[in-house]
Amino acid sequence: MKIRKAVFPVAGLGTRVLPATKAMPKEMLTIVDKPLIQYVVDEAKEAGIEHFVFVTGRNKGVIEDHFDRMFELDTTLAARGKEAEIELLARDQPEAGAVSFTRQQAPHGLGHAVWCARDIVGDEPFAVVLPDELVLNRPGCLAQMVEAYNHLRDKANVIAVQEVPAHQTHQYGICGVGKRHARGNMFEVTSMVEKPPKGTAPSNFSITGRYILQPEIFKILEKHERGAGGEIQLTDAMIGLAKSQSFYGVEFEGERHDCGSKAGFLRANIAYGMARPDLRDGLIAEMKKYFEK
Ligand code: UTP
Repeated sequence: MKIRKAVFPVAGLGTRVLPATKAMPKEMLTIVDKPLIQYVVDEAKEAGIEHFVFVTGRNKGVIEDHFDRMFELDTTLAARGKEAEIELLARDQPEAGAVSFTRQQAPHGLGHAVWCARDIVGDEPFAVVLPDELVLNRPGCLAQMVEAYNHLRDKANVIAVQEVPAHQTHQYGICGVGKRHARGNMFEVTSMVEKPPKGTAPSNFSITGRYILQPEIFKILEKHERGAGGEIQLTDAMIGLAKSQSFYGVEFEGERHDCGSKAGFLRANIAYGMARPDLRDGLIAEMKKYFEK
């Protein structure tokens, strides 16, 4: 069944990047000239997603505004003949009726945020995309996952995985590696564990912020079982679902950026700036000045 819907959980507090996120949603932080949320919506569009579901919270209204038309801006740009800017805004605008917003009234965890989207998603497989993780590549990470998913015959779930150094596995969700799929970049997941204590990780494949899940995950999430940090964890629900359905890890191509941390956010700005032909030379010249200091 085609993956038509993507859920973007955007209700978290973003405490790692305070004070930037005190009054502004983390997902609106800008990498070069676009908010994080726009990057992941573009990635989802490229993967064939037709409906975009945002799980928002308090102080997140500006995300809804970002995907709406701004009449004052449109008319002023038109009056000034700024065609390129008009085109830019039109390109980012989702089709009317292709977005839904629902609220997670309190940040009870990622699993709870996904569960909040259950009625909008309905009874079909869907994608979950975390906006604070960007993957720099074409085709995008989700497109690579959908392509891999389409090669699976049984009712399967897919998670994006990437190798991390062995001494860092305790900071991530880690999965066990089973039989390789004929496609090569995909393997059966034998176990999943959230932040395993040092020396106990089943592999060094970390679970990243992209998932394709079967709707049965909602039945597990509705139990509201709390895990690490007292939150309803998506990984715990996936461990539950793995008892009856298969999970595959897809080793995607691309550079992953954790924009929810200060260092990762800065690095992403440099990486995305360097990838822009119109900005690259100027950026190198500016950075050189700092290296010479
Ligand atoms: P994070 O784990 O980065 O949590 O969430 P956070 O609260 O946003 O940030 P820190 O750790 O306090 O700095 C990953 C994604 O899941 C969403 C976040 O908005 C983010 O996009 N999320 C997290 C929710 O929607 N609800 C939650 O209860 C928790």
